[in-house]
Amino acid sequence: MQSLIQTLELDLGERSYPIHIGPDLLERADLLLPFIKQKKVVVVSNETVAPLYLGRLCETLASGGIAVHSVVLPDGEKFKTWETLNLIFDALLTERCERNTVLIALGGGVIGDMGGFAAACYQRGMPFIQVPTTLLSQVDSSVGGKTAINHPMGKNMIGAFYQPRLVLADISTLDTLSDRELKAGLAEVVKYGLIRDPEFFDWLELNLDKLLARDKAALVYAVQRSCANKAEVVAADERESGERALLNLGHTFGHAIETGMGYGEWLHGEAVSAGTLIAAELSCALGWINAATVARIEGIFVRAGLPVWAPRLGVERYVELMSHDKKVLDGKLRLVLLQAIGKAVVSDVATPEQIAAAIEARCTAAGCN
Ligand code: NAD
Ligand code: GLY
Repeated sequence: MQSLIQTLELDLGERSYPIHIGPDLLERADLLLPFIKQKKVVVVSNETVAPLYLGRLCETLASGGIAVHSVVLPDGEKFKTWETLNLIFDALLTERCERNTVLIALGGGVIGDMGGFAAACYQRGMPFIQVPTTLLSQVDSSVGGKTAINHPMGKNMIGAFYQPRLVLADISTLDTLSDRELKAGLAEVVKYGLIRDPEFFDWLELNLDKLLARDKAALVYAVQRSCANKAEVVAADERESGERALLNLGHTFGHAIETGMGYGEWLHGEAVSAGTLIAAELSCALGWINAATVARIEGIFVRAGLPVWAPRLGVERYVELMSHDKKVLDGKLRLVLLQAIGKAVVSDVATPEQIAAAIEARCTAAGCN
């Protein structure tokens, strides 16, 4: 399996960091220990992931004489809150962590986002390492330094840009992921094909069944290519003043679905899938892509077992929820739309009526919840 390991670098000058992708990386002391200068670390994880993988990580750290203090949080998007964040600060203070103690986030995107935000805040910034254990977190949330918690009025509204020192994406951890979570991760993988990498979209159409069957080589390739796309975008636009916004294809509608349905009801990737279809519908209404392209996009999400119809929250509720989007500029909503498979743009040309019609169009299928 050694040959399956891929390493990329996210180039941010002196804050650059490696992203290692491959099987059995939790055991790789040689990759992990050089980033830990103290004899103790704090690992933030949750009730589901800790019993599966914390022991293995502790053994690897112990081989370097490093003691581990763990913070095991409740599991779920609904716990991505101030209250849960405070549990991390309580532990950091109780363990007398210092400014250069390393925090390791071991888990999916919820743990990575919260652990990263805690690291950004504690003593104004402590080093942290991402050890993502879901497909979604391996291809997206662990890379690029966006950290956050939710607010009842909006997803990821409170947070910071704060880069990890290392990302260790152990593909073997995906063995225990549920099928539903694996599929949710595929939504973010398909996103890279749609926004900037048409050859990768073609590859995904050909290899989707292998990914669904958890073929390790296919997974390593998909994670590596996704991270390569993300690393290029983030290196060019770390703070999202331009191109990085394209990574939010489907997210403005998707975040409205997640918040509107109640955090955790729709998985992030599921909401992104339905949201991407609304964005595709709108792009079609603007004459930028044709109905056959919308059908092709719908086809890959359907094959991935992801929702392509959005919940009936009501157009007014969608619009209200979307008004909190981080891409709103001078009160005007900007959306990521498609001009082709492999070419996305940020645009404010759609009228409120066109946006409403696209939402309606994706909420009208029989059986739509
Ligand atoms: P998650 O963190 O909730 O994980 C999904 C579920 O899988 C959880 O129940 C978790 O405990 C479980 N799990 C994790 N690893 C497992 C494993 N190896 N085996 C078995 N179960 C496992 O969800 P997610 O999809 O990983 O991440 C979604 C979050 O990421 C959202 O909060 C979203 O806003 C955020 N996100 C952030 C960014 C970013 O750039 N920071 C990008 C995309 C998404
Ligand atoms: N997931 C969007 C971003 O990292 O910018």
